[in-house]
Amino acid sequence: MQNFDYQTPTRLIFGEGVVEQLPEVMGQFGKKILLTYGGGSIKKLGLYDKVKELLKDFEIYELSGIQPNPKYDPSVLDGVKICKENDVDVILAVGGGSVLDCSKAIATGAKYDGDPWDLITYKAFATDSVPIVDIITLAATGSEYDSGGVISRTETNDKIGYIDPHNFPLVSFLDPTYTFTVSKKQTAAGCADAMNHIMEQYFCEDSTLLNDGFMEAGLKSLMINAKKCLENPEDYTARAEMMLCCTYGCNGIYALGNSGSGWPCHAIEHALSAYYDITHGEGLAIITPRWMKHILSEKSVDRFVKYGVNVFGIDANQDKFDIASQAIEATYKFFESINIPMHLKDVGIDDSRIGEMAQHIAVNEGLENAWIPLLEDDLVKILTESL
Ligand code: NZQ
Ligand code: ZN
Repeated sequence: MQNFDYQTPTRLIFGEGVVEQLPEVMGQFGKKILLTYGGGSIKKLGLYDKVKELLKDFEIYELSGIQPNPKYDPSVLDGVKICKENDVDVILAVGGGSVLDCSKAIATGAKYDGDPWDLITYKAFATDSVPIVDIITLAATGSEYDSGGVISRTETNDKIGYIDPHNFPLVSFLDPTYTFTVSKKQTAAGCADAMNHIMEQYFCEDSTLLNDGFMEAGLKSLMINAKKCLENPEDYTARAEMMLCCTYGCNGIYALGNSGSGWPCHAIEHALSAYYDITHGEGLAIITPRWMKHILSEKSVDRFVKYGVNVFGIDANQDKFDIASQAIEATYKFFESINIPMHLKDVGIDDSRIGEMAQHIAVNEGLENAWIPLLEDDLVKILTESL
């Protein structure tokens, strides 16, 4: 077991109707609020009107139109400008992970004198930030409980994930009823994203019985509950459990004391989204089984056996490589069963930029230090297998 130093300052307020507490919570931070949101789902949901009504005594500025795979220019830059010009006290992010990630970059950028891109690329480190509160409306990223953010810069094909303790939201409202309207596509993609967050922590050198059990249960819960959500989008219990599994995803709690993995599938997917602006969870679902096949070896096989037996109930009395192959196949079949397109060509990606993307990943993501190292040639093979 590895040493760790763990702190999550985020207050989670979970359940139907919790958003009624918004005025009291926001009041702790001040009067001037920057309300951030995406392309309009919160208006269809009635949540926009609800928030405006609840916060009628506050001074509200708005940043709308934040896109999936949130963009540095214009969204982050516009948000920083609004905060600086109006001396905003607190940011309220209402939407999915993209809205929240964009708000995180705004929060630190607003308290920094230089180019906010410096903070995303670790050229400089934040010393202060505007407090962030969120109402998360999509179960997927876990951004509501972590210090990560992922920002894209289209002109340089960059999609950069970074962590900064200032990125932790101070309060996250989680009302599963707000996820009832999430489309089947985004529900499935959210499930794949959260499953991959667990896998990125499960497939490593050093784990514990406790963490393995926690993560195996998380994977099983996600698979069962995502199917229920797809069958009945208003199944409160299923939406609620799926939401909590997702919330735990990236803040480290699933794997305290584990050794790192290098998060290889995320590293690869970030390049796919950077070059082709695809849905994050779909990209992960496509890459994951191909990555698994590629790294299966004497070194990794026992982890795959444990995963296959405990998550998919595969008969343990077989050759270990047979069990591992069945586990990989079961992973693929599950994603297929929730209607995720399972080939890159299905999401508009052909072989024309594979070399370029592999090089970009090899140079920028440090996968030569992953649990099972991946060099440029490996990346070309995984991407080609995914076509
Ligand atoms: O833009 P609006 O109109 O709000 O529509 C969104 C968007 O089109 C819609 N949506 C959200 N809530 C909805 C809804 N539609 C109907 N009903 C609702 N209740 O869903 C679409 C996708 O939203 P988005 O926020 O992009 O999805 P997600 O939450 O999956 O976020 C993806 C982003 O998060 C990053 C990804 O890379 C990607 O950029 N990640 C962030 C992480 C983190 N901070 O820890 C970790 C993850 O690994 C991930 O990389
Ligand atoms: Zn992810």
